[in-house]
Amino acid sequence: MSLNTIEINRLMNRFDSHDSVWLFGYGSLIFKADFPFIERRPASIAGWSRRFWQGSHDHRGTESAPGRVLTLVPEEGATCHGMAYLVTPEEFAHLDHREKNGYLRLATEMTFEDGGRLEGIVYIATADNAAYLGPASERDIARQIATAHGPSGPNSEYLLELARALRELGKHDEHVHAIEGHLEEFTRAAR
Ligand code: BEZ
Repeated sequence: MSLNTIEINRLMNRFDSHDSVWLFGYGSLIFKADFPFIERRPASIAGWSRRFWQGSHDHRGTESAPGRVLTLVPEEGATCHGMAYLVTPEEFAHLDHREKNGYLRLATEMTFEDGGRLEGIVYIATADNAAYLGPASERDIARQIATAHGPSGPNSEYLLELARALRELGKHDEHVHAIEGHLEEFTRAAR
């Protein structure tokens, strides 16, 4: 199932005249930056939580057996920690293509560790996109992630790499680390 968001994202031209733009990464961008960047820094955005609620039919799953990847959902009082990358606006064409299955560019304010704040971009898959799967228990999410596999590799690799990268940043994420715990349980039981 796919909704090609490339054309919609091209209309988001707010930063096109800038020499560089901050991009906030909360998922695979934390552990895999497959694009050139000028600088990167740990950062956070307020009012959002990471959730494994977006379906992946093109990277970590298939049309018949979608995987689960991250999106952000609004949550009052929440803070989502991640990694910010300073990139040239041209990089967004590549990212729009990579994340074409439902992710839209949104302008957001991000906070750096020194307390400084700047506006930049974050990719979000909202509930109205065709690949959206929505909430499920963390155990059921782990069960789906345990078996899904797509062109970019096993869905479990995405989860485990993310969980490890968040630990390296010193940031605990209840949702991500609970799913990691369930996945490890299933893996032990299958041995
Ligand atoms: C990220 O890692 O921030 C990201 C998540 C979904 C789409 C693009 C980027």
